Amino acid sequence: MNRSDQARILRKNIKGIKQKVAVGRKRKKQYIHFDNAASTPALQSVLNDLNGFLDWYSGVHRGTGYKSMVSSRVYDDCHSVIGQFVNADQARDTIIMVNNTTEAINKLSYRLHLKPSDVVVTTDMEHHSNDLPWRGKATVVYVRVDKDGVLDLDHAAHCLKKNYPRVKLLTVCGASNVTGHVNDVHLLAEIAHEYGCRIMVDGAQLIPHRRFDMKPNSDPRHIDFLAFSGHKIFSPFGSGVLIGPREIFTQNPPDYRGGGTVKIVMKKKVYWSDPPDSDEPGSPNVTGTYALARTLSYLNQLGMDILQEHEESLTSFLLERISKIPGITVYGSADRVGVVTFNIDGLPHALVGAILCYEAGIGTRTGCFCAQNYVRHLLGLEENHGHVELYDDNRNDKIPGMVRVSLAGYNTREEIDYLLQWLKDITQNKYEFKKRYRFFADQGSFIPVEFASGALVDKIYKRCMK
Ligand code: ALA
Repeated sequence: MNRSDQARILRKNIKGIKQKVAVGRKRKKQYIHFDNAASTPALQSVLNDLNGFLDWYSGVHRGTGYKSMVSSRVYDDCHSVIGQFVNADQARDTIIMVNNTTEAINKLSYRLHLKPSDVVVTTDMEHHSNDLPWRGKATVVYVRVDKDGVLDLDHAAHCLKKNYPRVKLLTVCGASNVTGHVNDVHLLAEIAHEYGCRIMVDGAQLIPHRRFDMKPNSDPRHIDFLAFSGHKIFSPFGSGVLIGPREIFTQNPPDYRGGGTVKIVMKKKVYWSDPPDSDEPGSPNVTGTYALARTLSYLNQLGMDILQEHEESLTSFLLERISKIPGITVYGSADRVGVVTFNIDGLPHALVGAILCYEAGIGTRTGCFCAQNYVRHLLGLEENHGHVELYDDNRNDKIPGMVRVSLAGYNTREEIDYLLQWLKDITQNKYEFKKRYRFFADQGSFIPVEFASGALVDKIYKRCMK
């Protein structure tokens, strides 16, 4: 089977792929989801699996009934399936289930027991979730990026060398959620290991798009820690993962303590469980973990390489054509996953997003994508451009940002063609479009003047909550 066949199989399995949305007062259109970098849809086959498993679902690790025994075994084995997907060195590593990448990185930031004099090297292209957790726990040093947002590898080496031996961790995104730019994390791992420091890869935007190999511990290019989220890889059931050396999680008591994290509790002494149990407090997310493991097995069977090829061909197709539309500025360059951010001259990003939503039935994301420093850098803005005041006033019509189209292996060329037609229309008739929208500061968004504010969403909301 070729890549289009595999992409078609995946597309057929996407829950809600045929969902229609209102475009204008009377027309409906099949929704196009181009916000996969935020969250991807679920897979019908995994929902079917989950439905079957729920007959056997029960609390894990503490019950003596059949259901608990089955659930415990399923839950424990799912850890290995998830580890195998990224070729974790399971003799060395533990696979800890958390809620999402943000929680995984925060957990690691506590579990490393850093001192203020220790140095964590991160980069100027990170999501806030791979920047803020490190602040206040260690001295944070930022590797710079060039004007297109590409990481400066020489500067990375310089930061590691300059801070040797205080540097304890290099933490970097596998791919950017703003430019899609893919970092050579194995090369970075080699450099980090030369300076005696470990590397953490924020895999939120990489793992859903490319086959990834953490490599064995004996390989200088191995990845020490990896974090990623289920909801960005077709598994929106509240599961995320932190993988890393077991020894890191046995050196100190866990950060969250309680049921499940202990073997023996005495009045004055506690014997902590071994990881991952020590770091999965309370009753864990059994169904989310099961769904993620089933999703990863499905993607493996379908072929991550083939899906990657399909997504790359869509990304090149989009980039080549969007760059030629007069009045559009595209950000970033180089090797990227299917993320394309842009602006249309003279139109706020939030307005472009609203037009695509209300008139074309296309879902995108606009703004700074939880990576404000990186977006400011790409836009050539200083920190003091009034962001705080605009934010406080909810002025999304003025806050600098971009429009982001993010693809996944089930999207099609036809969907991209349709988007490109709309972008051409918007750039050619921007004043006409502008007249049709009003900005509502209370909602921080543009809404077509012909609709009562929020009415369309209200109707669907009521159906979901009935
Ligand atoms: N971090 C996610 C995004 O980029 C939510 O959209």
